[in-house]
Amino acid sequence: MAYYRTPHDVTQLPAWKALSQHRTAMQDFSMREAFKADPQRFNQFSLSGCGLFLDYSKNLITSETRDLLVKLAAEVDLNAAIKAMFAGEILNASEGRPALHTALRRPVGDKLSVNGTNIMPDVHKVLNQITELVTRIHDGLWRGYTEKPITDVVNIGIGGSFLGPELVSEALLPYSQKGVRCHYLANIDGSEFHELSAKLRAETTLFIVSSKSFNTLETLKNAQASRAWYLAQGGSEAELHRHFIAVSSNNAAAVAFGIREENIFPMWDWVGGRYSLWSAIGLPIALSIGMANFKELLSGAYTMDQHFQTAPFEQNIPVLLALLGVWYNNFWEAQSHAILPYDHYLRNITKHLQQLDMESNGKSVRQDGSPVSVETGPVIWGGVGCNGQHAYHQLLHQGTQMIPADFIVPVVSFNPVADHHQWLFANCLSQSQALMLGKTRSEAEAELREKGMAEADIQKLAPHKVIPGNRPSNTLVLERVSPRRLGALVAMYEHKVFVQSVIWGTNAFDQWGVELGKELGKGVYQRLTGGIEEPAEDGSTQGLISYFRGRHRG
Ligand code: F6P
Repeated sequence: MAYYRTPHDVTQLPAWKALSQHRTAMQDFSMREAFKADPQRFNQFSLSGCGLFLDYSKNLITSETRDLLVKLAAEVDLNAAIKAMFAGEILNASEGRPALHTALRRPVGDKLSVNGTNIMPDVHKVLNQITELVTRIHDGLWRGYTEKPITDVVNIGIGGSFLGPELVSEALLPYSQKGVRCHYLANIDGSEFHELSAKLRAETTLFIVSSKSFNTLETLKNAQASRAWYLAQGGSEAELHRHFIAVSSNNAAAVAFGIREENIFPMWDWVGGRYSLWSAIGLPIALSIGMANFKELLSGAYTMDQHFQTAPFEQNIPVLLALLGVWYNNFWEAQSHAILPYDHYLRNITKHLQQLDMESNGKSVRQDGSPVSVETGPVIWGGVGCNGQHAYHQLLHQGTQMIPADFIVPVVSFNPVADHHQWLFANCLSQSQALMLGKTRSEAEAELREKGMAEADIQKLAPHKVIPGNRPSNTLVLERVSPRRLGALVAMYEHKVFVQSVIWGTNAFDQWGVELGKELGKGVYQRLTGGIEEPAEDGSTQGLISYFRGRHRG
């Protein structure tokens, strides 16, 4: 299987150099002025596709900027990288693996060879296995140890085995079927386990141990605690198979835990955890919204895959978003990016994108191990609107940093209450408008004068009321959150992240940085519990260990 080629230093490319010069020329660019000068700006910098509408006109760009960014994408040979990803070439060089999450949404009959084997029959076999389980649970044929139907499903998993399924199952609650409630148990914190188990009845609960590696501390500890709880509530070892199933690529470990082989849903090495909601890791989604809706989700992602592979870069939604991110990250020193969903159901998208983006693009070396020459992934943060407006938006408006933002908003609400949705939509639009327009000193002064304030007071207050403006944002509008549109939206961000990694030359599919903390954690645990008496590697950690031990002695 072909390895994806080693990238070169992006700063040496002609388009990068031209963008550096263009950035200097754009120093005094004003979006306010640009909108005044060009009534077509909105039309020129907006497009729709896959059920999404993207307005990117509120950015510090001209058509020259877009042309140069598109040129950059061509110079890093983005087309070849996209082809390589979809063809299953080894993009994850440090682990010697392809990144084939896109295979999970390909239709029946498609062929895709990995190491000489067509993987598509396996993908669809697992989809059939999921369908069977979902049908049995929804039809009350899968029963607990007292023969009662399953009413609650607990997904035990963390990271990619949690965030994607949680986002989608909660975003699609209006589509939920047959009264199966989904819960998520991720953290090793006993309080999370305590609060959740207090709501459940063992006889009607199904636990899904969701772990690609079946080797993740938090997940294994929660799985053991759940089994002990199930037994304490009256369940038996003999009936355990009715209450515990697994999704994993580590069959042996799942069997050793006590899960029957026929209840283990497979995962493959070629799917990264944070890209895995489309696989059997999405079981809680399918259980919540039903198989027809789960397939709609996959098909929405598939339409985005098609768009990504075929649309010219200047009309390609994930490519444009990625290029805008590079523009701010590398040419305007933006260090973070806000994700601001104006929709209750999409409230978890920020958390999912945090893992997707930061675990993928939080890298300092290129695929060949050489250090990167530019900044890579930004900090992804944010939260649901309007709540953020009354919390951190102040910093977006008047702080010293430039923080580009994505506003995400549906046109239609599932739950219209009086005129709330009009107000929600208005708030979303007015936030991006305020970020862009800002308020000049003379506008601030005029406003105060109109209120009849004394001139001396105006001069004192006006500087505080100035809002710099010219702060960039994208607005993504969905008709209404649906499985298909959500599939497209999530896949769009996956591809955005990938495009950026191609430009920076990094590997978006490994996460070695996470490992050190896991390794050190074992030593710290041993010292906390007296397994190792030898002091920790550093004084601070040892001091904190002694503090903990002192308190526990009592
Ligand atoms: O430790 C980070 C990580 O490996 C993520 O990349 C992954 O999504 C998560 O842990 C969970 O891993 P697993 O599914 O193997 O339990």
